[in-house]
Amino acid sequence: MSDPKIVSGLEGVLVTETRLSKVDGTAGVLTIGGFPLEELAPNATYEEVLHLLWYDRLPTTSELDELRGELAGLRTIPEPTIDLLTAAARKKLPTMVALRMGVDTLTLIDVDPSDISSEADMLRVKSVTARIPTVVATYRRLLEGEKPIEPNADIPHAANYLYMLKGEEAHPDAVRALETYINTVVDHGMNNSTFTSRVIISTRSDIVSAVVGAIGSLKGPLHGGAPGPALDMVFEIRKRAEASGKDLKEEAESWAREVVGGGGRIMGFGHRVYKVRDPRADVLGRAAVKLFEGSGDTALYDDATAVEDVVLDVLAELKPDRSIKTNVEFYTALILHGVGMESDLFSPTFAVGRVGGWTAHILEQIAEARMIRPRAAYSGELDRVWSPIEEREDGGNRGG
Ligand SMILES: CC(C)(COP(=O)(O)OP(=O)(O)OC[C@H]1O[C@@H](n2cnc3c(N)ncnc32)[C@H](O)[C@@H]1OP(=O)(O)O)[C@@H](O)C(=O)NCCC(=O)NCCS
Repeated sequence: MSDPKIVSGLEGVLVTETRLSKVDGTAGVLTIGGFPLEELAPNATYEEVLHLLWYDRLPTTSELDELRGELAGLRTIPEPTIDLLTAAARKKLPTMVALRMGVDTLTLIDVDPSDISSEADMLRVKSVTARIPTVVATYRRLLEGEKPIEPNADIPHAANYLYMLKGEEAHPDAVRALETYINTVVDHGMNNSTFTSRVIISTRSDIVSAVVGAIGSLKGPLHGGAPGPALDMVFEIRKRAEASGKDLKEEAESWAREVVGGGGRIMGFGHRVYKVRDPRADVLGRAAVKLFEGSGDTALYDDATAVEDVVLDVLAELKPDRSIKTNVEFYTALILHGVGMESDLFSPTFAVGRVGGWTAHILEQIAEARMIRPRAAYSGELDRVWSPIEEREDGGNRGG
């Protein structure tokens, strides 16, 4: 039997079914748990979205109160996690690396890691989701040489994340913007980190391992690492325009031509599935306008959208067959900068949102109970002849 055709990057390959989200890359439509993204993300609280993904329906008031209380009670991280984060801060490790290391230590508070009952797994799902913001905020404070701030169990998930970063309760507009962001990125079909988490859990490994693997995947610049560079691009173009006295759009055009002409990629543009504008960019774009208008300073928003227009034109001209459009990362950078985060917090905050999707997929995969195990077509030598090391002149690489 001949090998089936290799599908590079598994593009377009269906690996399973999911009820969690539907990505229509041609129409540019994203459905999360049955709701259009545009309806869910700007209106729901993150806890409501978690309930939707984990239990397949929106919660009633009492269910929401219960889930909020449960998650709030799970926010504290253990002492050894703080010690490890302190050591990581001393080395000034990137926040995503510290997050990956910190989440791994959460096994220390698992009462019985060998218990794989659905109750124990559900508790792990909630624990890791509740604690990821604490790991990120604790590390960020340590990195800045500041004392970590204990989680505040009296305020919701998103508000508490901002509180732990800043040490004071954030403005409701900032909380809403952050919540819209984490809802927007909570799930997105079979993206690389979600797939990674499903591959790991499919071996009947554990939930912490699956989430740690997903963080490792998300950290890559082609997946969750793009928003920092996307905003840096806008700052860099602004700087150039100030230095040259030229118009921002003129500088943006020469910068984009330089990057794309030199074979580089512009972060915040292009997507494996969307060949039209990423619908998440629109939802976040609207949230960004609200946030910046509310703050009374729209200068960065205006400059970013001007740069976006120019980059799209340059990409259309230099990569005419590729249909490269704005993706979620571009507006992520604006929103997160707008709520007062430095760019090294952008990818970790993506994880703060996406963990809801990872854990829901992990639960789906546990229920599917089928190990993921594709094949590779062998392209190496065949029939090599073994020779003892003392008789080997060419490393034994001769064919048979
Ligand atoms: C996300 C991404 C990996 C998806 O791309 P993909 O569908 O796998 O496409 P490929 O990597 O095969 O690239 C196809 C072509 O488009 C070009 N391309 C894709 N995205 C580009 C970008 N952002 N800037 C410039 N060129 C880009 C590639 O250089 C390649 O051109 P070539 O065939 O002439 O060599 C890609 O668009 C990218 O690297 N974007 C920037 C990183 C980013 O924003 N990631 C966040 C995604 S949400």
